[in-house]
Amino acid sequence: MSIDDLRKIARRRLPRVIYDYLEGGAEDEACLAANRRAFEKHRLLPRYLVDITQRDQSTTVLGQRFASPFGIAPTGMIAMVRPRADVLLAEAAARADVPFVISGASTASIEEIARIAPKSWYQHYPCRDAGMTSDLLRRVADAGLQTLVVTVDVPLHSKRERNIRSGWVRPYKPTLAVVLEASRHPGWVVDYLRTGLPFMENYRKYAPPDTSARDLTSFYAGQVPAAHSWAAIEKIRREWSGSLVLKGILHPDDASQALRCGVDGVIVSNHGGRQLDRATAPIDALPRIVDAVGDRLTVMLDSGIRRGADIATALCLGARFVFVGRAPAYGVAAGGVDGAMKALSILRNEVDLVCGQIGCPSATALGPAFIDRYDGQSVARGTRACIAHAHPIETLRA
Ligand SMILES: Cc1cc2nc3c(=O)[nH]c(=O)nc-3n(C[C@H](O)[C@H](O)[C@H](O)COP(=O)(O)O)c2cc1C
Repeated sequence: MSIDDLRKIARRRLPRVIYDYLEGGAEDEACLAANRRAFEKHRLLPRYLVDITQRDQSTTVLGQRFASPFGIAPTGMIAMVRPRADVLLAEAAARADVPFVISGASTASIEEIARIAPKSWYQHYPCRDAGMTSDLLRRVADAGLQTLVVTVDVPLHSKRERNIRSGWVRPYKPTLAVVLEASRHPGWVVDYLRTGLPFMENYRKYAPPDTSARDLTSFYAGQVPAAHSWAAIEKIRREWSGSLVLKGILHPDDASQALRCGVDGVIVSNHGGRQLDRATAPIDALPRIVDAVGDRLTVMLDSGIRRGADIATALCLGARFVFVGRAPAYGVAAGGVDGAMKALSILRNEVDLVCGQIGCPSATALGPAFIDRYDGQSVARGTRACIAHAHPIETLRA
């Protein structure tokens, strides 16, 4: 019924070490919890007696039209939850007509995914070897993909204590305890024995011949993270002629700087709570970023979305588009391509329901007039005036 139901099915099917990799955050997981709380503190202000018989949530973002205002965020090494999970997610995205963002740590190649889902985007972690970055960008362009996403919120590897405790540490050699726990999830074990540790396909051609899947993860870790700088972004901008997006922006000044570098869009994100445990929640950072860059940059958001109402809230607060990471990953872990489709259709149906219930038949018309918070505080420019008109704040408090 809900994304949380898919999460529970995934938890039952996956060995703890893999479920924890998918679910966990950094350190105390304060950021992970705060992402959810930040959404939950917002409340929508419905308008009634509006004709909502025809509802439409299709959206154009960075020159591409999609059937819903959300896409699938990049998730590295996702084939650990199910063999070829990247491909299954791409298939689901293509069927649902939403973008799939290929992870820089993908276990399927750019070329294969582009064939399955030609409207995919590619997420890149800059490599220490600049030649490798250039070659990857060329491959993305040759595959016909239009949008490059550069993730900026991994200047260093974070400390994911849950992962370390449950045994997800390179070079990925399971301890006896991990093997014994995994044996309680025979469906996953049979799949894993059949396919083994997945290869990070995009890096295979740069590693020495016959590199094993395990050694390839170490090769990749020797390349990423590379030193981060605005100069590196400017260089990528010169090399990449398609749409360029920075993922992981939280500060309005960084969004303004992105604009000056010729970037087309930003994804306001804290990596789903997996990097800086005290990072602000993207939904809280969003209004300041929208104020700083307005329509000159396509502002998108991810982190913490589990409901259609979260998507509507982000759009009301100024995001043009959003991404979901764990939600479709729970789906693919729980039920392969059908599970991923299920996750997307749950979110799509919930967006439709919310839009209908608040009297906003077109998702592109969502805006600050539809939102309030329990404390009555205005969070986006123009909100107070809209709310005052629709519903005096004093009345809500009473
Ligand atoms: C298992 C997993 C792997 C991820 N791998 C990547 C990655 O390779 N590149 C990246 O930019 N973000 C990665 N992320 C972050 C997601 O793209 C996205 O920002 C985050 O999942 C959004 O939060 P949500 O899971 O609450 O929707 C990963 C997230 C998860 C859960």
